[in-house]
Amino acid sequence: MTASNALQRIAILVTAPIRSGVTEALEAIFTVHRLWEQDDPDAFFATHGAQIRGIATTTLFGKVRADLIERLPALEIIASFGVGYDNVDVAAAAKAGAVVTNTPGVLVDETADLAMGLLLATIRQIPQAERHLRAGLWPRERFRLSPSLRGRRVGILGLGAIGKAIARRLEGFGVEIAYHGRTRQEGVEYPWYPDARALAQACDVLIIAAPGTAETEKLVDAPVLEALGRDGILVNIGRGSIVDEDALEAALAHGTILAAGLDVFAHEPQVPEGLLAHPRSVLLPHVGSGSERTHAAMGALQVENLVRWFTDRVPPTPVPETAHLVPG
Ligand code: GLV
Repeated sequence: MTASNALQRIAILVTAPIRSGVTEALEAIFTVHRLWEQDDPDAFFATHGAQIRGIATTTLFGKVRADLIERLPALEIIASFGVGYDNVDVAAAAKAGAVVTNTPGVLVDETADLAMGLLLATIRQIPQAERHLRAGLWPRERFRLSPSLRGRRVGILGLGAIGKAIARRLEGFGVEIAYHGRTRQEGVEYPWYPDARALAQACDVLIIAAPGTAETEKLVDAPVLEALGRDGILVNIGRGSIVDEDALEAALAHGTILAAGLDVFAHEPQVPEGLLAHPRSVLLPHVGSGSERTHAAMGALQVENLVRWFTDRVPPTPVPETAHLVPG
């Protein structure tokens, strides 16, 4: 049997439509089952569950929980589209002996670009100014003056690959930079603060670029927002779970902070009323990595993880929590 014939016999469960042709690419290689098209999931699992050896899923849509993993006794790998993998119960996967992979690296610059766009849009009120023009108000009324990025100190919460790419871009903007992460990083010159509140206290812009984990859940809460201050700008391109959204709604409503630019929300695609209603919030539908070019690269990496696992057992990007399951 040739390698490609062998792969064609391997059953992969795709949990939700993955854009950029990933589902179709997988269909050309493996036997693919589309979970979202199953009218009777129980009957589907009874018939096919024992043959499924891989899952392809996406961070942008749906979760792979323990109860799904437990229904797939032959599962070896869960390949997720996206760098964050809070959509997968990694502990349950590791317990079941399944490797989890994500798509880091290829989306770093795209996401950092978006962070800069969102930062400038929020501070200079670009969407609001455009709405003013489109509403035909310009001939009657000049658009209000906006706050400024000039003279600000920007704190980055989570100085991983994306946080560092944001910092490199901010250097070009001539602002001061500081950061908070679990540990002070060797060779990083920016000042480090031991917790989110201390960082917010020292800055008037806070950009969240951290992953969504149990440790970061609601890390940005009422005291952190208060520390950011009345002139403070919050930008979040990390995960919605990192912000206490009730506290943020209240902070915006009471002028505890000035404005927020958010690409991610705690319960996507739900967006809290108080954020939608606020005139200085700029809200995006989780598009950080969302260009055609970058999603194509993420999709290719996701497919490569599955193909490599089933050919030579060396998926290029296993997540650290399951890297020990990769032989060698
Ligand atoms: C998107 O949010 C990702 O984790 O890639």
